[in-house]
Amino acid sequence: MKASNSRCSGVARNPFVHELKLTMTEKIKIGLMSVTVFPVRLLLVSFFMLLAWPFAFTASLGRSEFVIEPQTWWRRFIDLCLRVIMRAMWFCGGFHWIKVKGERAPPSEVPILTVAPHSSYFDAIPVTMTMCSIVAKLESRSVPVWGTLISYIRPVFVFRSDQNSRRKTVEEIKRRAQTRGKWPQIMIFSEGTCTNRSGLILFKAGAFIPGLPVQPVVLRYPNKLDTITWTWQGPGAFKILWLTLCQPHNPMEIEYLPVYTPSNEEKENPALFANNVRAIMAKALGVPLTNLSFDDREITVSRGPLRIQDYNVLLKLNQLLCQLGLRTGTSEKVLEELSRRARKLQGARLGLEDFAQFLSLPVTDTLTQVHSIFDEHGDGEIDTRHYVVALSTVYRPSKSTETLKLAFKMYESEENGGVLEEELATILEIMLGVKELDVSGVFLALGRPDRGKITYNELHCVIEQHPDFVTHCLDFKDHPHKPHPEQLKSCNGQKHKKDD
Ligand SMILES: *[C@@H]1O[C@H](CO)[C@@H](O)[C@H](O)[C@H]1NC(C)=O
Ligand SMILES: *[C@@H]1O[C@H](CO)[C@@H](O)[C@H](O)[C@H]1NC(C)=O
Repeated sequence: MKASNSRCSGVARNPFVHELKLTMTEKIKIGLMSVTVFPVRLLLVSFFMLLAWPFAFTASLGRSEFVIEPQTWWRRFIDLCLRVIMRAMWFCGGFHWIKVKGERAPPSEVPILTVAPHSSYFDAIPVTMTMCSIVAKLESRSVPVWGTLISYIRPVFVFRSDQNSRRKTVEEIKRRAQTRGKWPQIMIFSEGTCTNRSGLILFKAGAFIPGLPVQPVVLRYPNKLDTITWTWQGPGAFKILWLTLCQPHNPMEIEYLPVYTPSNEEKENPALFANNVRAIMAKALGVPLTNLSFDDREITVSRGPLRIQDYNVLLKLNQLLCQLGLRTGTSEKVLEELSRRARKLQGARLGLEDFAQFLSLPVTDTLTQVHSIFDEHGDGEIDTRHYVVALSTVYRPSKSTETLKLAFKMYESEENGGVLEEELATILEIMLGVKELDVSGVFLALGRPDRGKITYNELHCVIEQHPDFVTHCLDFKDHPHKPHPEQLKSCNGQKHKKDD
């Protein structure tokens, strides 16, 4: 792909990571707390959670999914007990006092509260304080104890396995929202995933599709040492719990912002509605907006041996694809079909108009930008195979094997299969987002320093042999590395003999 100067454009900021660095003093403090306060707190927190269970369980008896039962005295009593128990649980966890600013609007006025930023499971605090419903994965219902507690607040369950789950979730939110306060309010974390609170990522439209007033709620954890943030890259769930319980006090702030009533235009356009609410919340928080979304997270934290190294260009491409509607239109089938057509072109380079035709799209500004990403020579022509490899990478960032297979199918010659060294380098450059890639290490690992062609199975074998494939076998810009034959295992399991 074209060398871009995206390093300066600011897309590089990745809010899905949380790097926690502890100073010596902090380490000592945590060490001391770990053997004194921590076990006591953990015990108490567990105790209160277990204590909550029989109450939540009793309340769940005789409940139906679709109708709300009358608020009898005993249900009110259970509700009160649960609130007290949960508050006691957080108290024991070090959340001694929680500052609440603003006022929550009644359910009859506002059916939906949009909460941000979402950064941790401690964001459950406002939920247990209000006993609002949330949107939760269906799987969470089967977690022992926790599942019963979650069910108590009548979440809108998302069936991840169901093709129509998005639509069904939105319909259920809409149905409840339109009952004018019969159902509990729904708290929706519109970002859809946890970030490190450095900015607000794009909101999912779910809370905004009903076109009803929403109340924005912002959360703050003004602690010096951030032990709260639980993102995709960074300390895991237990470490977060441990470090948080080791803090003397964990401050938290919940602020209810004024109710936001959508204009007619916003009712028609949920994305606009979402963005305007997001802007207000970002302003209240004093953080910037970022154009990253839930889907981008996977690109920035891709896993596997072919983890994306520099995701700037791929992120940019993803955003353009979203704007063109190509992101949602992509499926394995579409990729297969595109790759078949790209293969037929046999490396013929396409100008902008032909590329537009290839995708059956009109020539637009956005499409021009996509085209120019792949115009590495700057001559206005691109190899569509590059586009397909990149599309497959952003579509399934953690399934690099699938993308590789697809790429090999496009590049392999009919007669004897295999792709050329330069072709392999191009494929991997796109997939990893790197430049000036040298793949000689791969051939070295195969015991073929004379290089030539490589088949998918050979490459697969080298990758299997080297869990750290990128660092051990590849050499690229920003990662100059001459592969050492001693480090490379050859594919038949023996150490490769030195031959240079
Ligand atoms: C949080 O995300 C920002 C990008 O928005 C990043 O620059 C920063 O390093 C991250 N903070 C931590 C503590 O990892
Ligand atoms: C986000 O994307 C929109 C267009 O989709 C653009 O107008 C806006 O400037 C972008 N914002 C940032 C911070 O990149």
